[in-house]
Amino acid sequence: MKPLLEVRDVSLSYHTLQGETAALSHISFTLMPGEFLAIVGPSGCGKSTLLNSICALFEIEEGSILMDGSPIGTQSNSSRIGYMLQKDHLLEWRSVYKNVLLGLEIRKEVTPEKKALVDEMLATYGLDKFKNARPSQLSGGMRQRAALIRTLALKPDLLLLDEPFSALDYQTRLNVSDDIGKILKKEHKPAILVTHDISEAISMADRVIILSKRPAAIVRIVPIDLGIKERTPLASRNAPEFKSYFNLIWKELNKNA
Ligand SMILES: Nc1ncnc2c1ncn2[C@@H]1O[C@H](COP(=O)(O)OP(=O)(O)OP(=O)(O)O)[C@@H](O)[C@H]1O
Ligand SMILES: [Mg+2]
Repeated sequence: MKPLLEVRDVSLSYHTLQGETAALSHISFTLMPGEFLAIVGPSGCGKSTLLNSICALFEIEEGSILMDGSPIGTQSNSSRIGYMLQKDHLLEWRSVYKNVLLGLEIRKEVTPEKKALVDEMLATYGLDKFKNARPSQLSGGMRQRAALIRTLALKPDLLLLDEPFSALDYQTRLNVSDDIGKILKKEHKPAILVTHDISEAISMADRVIILSKRPAAIVRIVPIDLGIKERTPLASRNAPEFKSYFNLIWKELNKNA
């Protein structure tokens, strides 16, 4: 099987009037079709910079990033990546329905088929009764689900998630990450999740990439193999191997703090 995404020896620095800030240092990894990667690393190490580079918001200085073998940012793949940020960016002056259709509207792709897909996701993920509500009438978890549907409506081949649950309280966060983990599995979406939360990374990912402090370099990539049948994020937290993965990643992060 060929990788969906190849990040090869990527380095990047920011250049400002104050000087140069190195953010990424020789990052290399691959993502296979259907795979879920999590990225953990110290605050300010360069995690968002890495996601921004993958969706071609920045030009990298060194190295290359390929999607299905072609450099990212080219016509053939620029619209294949969905990016979900920490803030849901739902627009209060539009209804929930109009919000989830926004991306399609911008791309002029509001076709009957795409609308049917959105309707189906709204029903499946418990938001159909809130189609005409305003975002402020939704709970935090419902808002995140609406933001995810808006992203999935574009049928991206790869999802980038930058701390999408960090604004939620702990209990909601557990439920929403479980929900979203199941949704992504059902839709067979490959994804890269950036998180501060080691447990969240282990519970959701097939592999966890540990980054060093800035400039981010890869310290270690840990494959997560939990001996449970139904690998939902919540069930994963109760797997017997969970704690040893937690301790391993915790130690690696602290070694490099
Ligand atoms: N546009 C920019 N210009 C200059 N420096 C920047 C810019 N964006 C980020 N930086 C710096 O680059 C470093 C990495 O930033 P980045 O946002 O990628 O880190 P992060 O790991 O996502 O942080 P956090 O954990 O807080 O989300 C930080 O030191 C930051 O100050
Ligand atoms: Mg960040």
